[in-house]
Amino acid sequence: MTPRLVPAATDPVRRGDRPLTITVDGTPLPGVAGQSLAGVLLAAGRTAWRTGRDGRPRGVFCGIGVCFDCLLTVNGERDVRACRRRARDGDTVTTQSRTGPGADGARP
Ligand code: FES
Repeated sequence: MTPRLVPAATDPVRRGDRPLTITVDGTPLPGVAGQSLAGVLLAAGRTAWRTGRDGRPRGVFCGIGVCFDCLLTVNGERDVRACRRRARDGDTVTTQSRTGPGADGARP
């Protein structure tokens, strides 16, 4: 998959974008109103943002809210599905990891 966002100025449907900015692990990422959080991340070239229990990278798998591979923490709310949450200007997002001692989700 090649992530990309067609610039509004060259989009043949002449859409009018309302820009927004989210912060992911301290890094601001641009998006447009209507995109999901996963859409913003993919358009920024990020295809994985979580680590599963086996240590392998996770991102969007199903894209419809079924697999839970795309989980993020959004504005302090844990386990938000990035493919189902619409990005809002000013969202603060942190990535999650399920590996290592003390990692969130790890069992004692
Ligand atoms: S990609 Fe499957 S739940 Fe989000």
